[in-house]
Amino acid sequence: MASSDMKNDDVLAKEMNRWSGHANAYTNVERLTLPLAIQLAQWVDSVLPFATHGASALDDGCGSGVLGSAIKTVCPAVPLLSCDVAEGMLSQAQSRAKKEQWSAPCDFQILDARNLEGVPDASITHLMSQYMICLAPEPDRIAQEMYRVLKPGGVLGLGTYGLPRFDHVYYPWVIAAWKIGVLDFEILDLMASKWTKPASVKDALEEAGFKDVEVREKMVDWEFESLAKAMHYAFREGNPAMEAYKQAWREKSGKDTDVFEPVYAEEMGKLYEQEDGRVVIPIKVVFCIGRK
Ligand SMILES: C[S@@+](CC[C@H](N)C(=O)[O-])C[C@H]1O[C@@H](n2cnc3c(N)ncnc32)[C@H](O)[C@@H]1O
Repeated sequence: MASSDMKNDDVLAKEMNRWSGHANAYTNVERLTLPLAIQLAQWVDSVLPFATHGASALDDGCGSGVLGSAIKTVCPAVPLLSCDVAEGMLSQAQSRAKKEQWSAPCDFQILDARNLEGVPDASITHLMSQYMICLAPEPDRIAQEMYRVLKPGGVLGLGTYGLPRFDHVYYPWVIAAWKIGVLDFEILDLMASKWTKPASVKDALEEAGFKDVEVREKMVDWEFESLAKAMHYAFREGNPAMEAYKQAWREKSGKDTDVFEPVYAEEMGKLYEQEDGRVVIPIKVVFCIGRK
């Protein structure tokens, strides 16, 4: 194995553990991703109906199954394969399917999106994936694998985050750091900018072979009941992006996050707290459609 592959596999193993460890708290993220999944599934359906004869759908990096839920709402009968590399997330998707009584056929598999082993070439008509390719190692390879399994004439529906650093966290974080006297706080991009900026996502999909690529940028609100709940989620529930911020803070400041939290909460409150106490965070996302 090449050393870059070994490095990526190490990164992937950490990614699997991080996401599995976060699975129970993922309902907080679903408040954001479920409505987006519904919009993306409806867009895909308007381009190529899921009810097309011989259709088969794949939710790549399914997490807790929000896209599967949207797909099964739009077209209960379409055969659906949901896969994710993290066992904890996949079992959330299975529980969701049971609770929502998804119609058969639906299948669940632990698969690495870089290598959708067992999924034959040109076998899927609707390949959907959201908020995975921008976060996972080797996104270009993932796109090539998506292209491999898609049938000619099939459609890709892809959602990505629109800013590589999660800027809604970055700005209050930097201001809080300055207030504490850590003037040089910096964090590297958490996602590949090629897979977050709309124009470059379009180029990247075309590079992987997709045609008729259409990209839409959107702002959406991510709500929490209160500042306390938003802070609890950010610091206590193991979100992989927040863990990266916490790690960068410790390295840069040499301090633990307990001194940082109240100052960050104040900055979050100034930016996002509403009069009724809710916290509403604007998030930039990108929706794409491509054809093979
Ligand atoms: C932000 S979550 C998105 C989940 C879901 N698609 C949604 O919209 O809520 C990212 C998901 O990608 C999965 N993931 C990360 N790297 C992966 C890979 N190489 N192959 C498959 N899944 C991966 C994670 O385990 C996690 O469930």
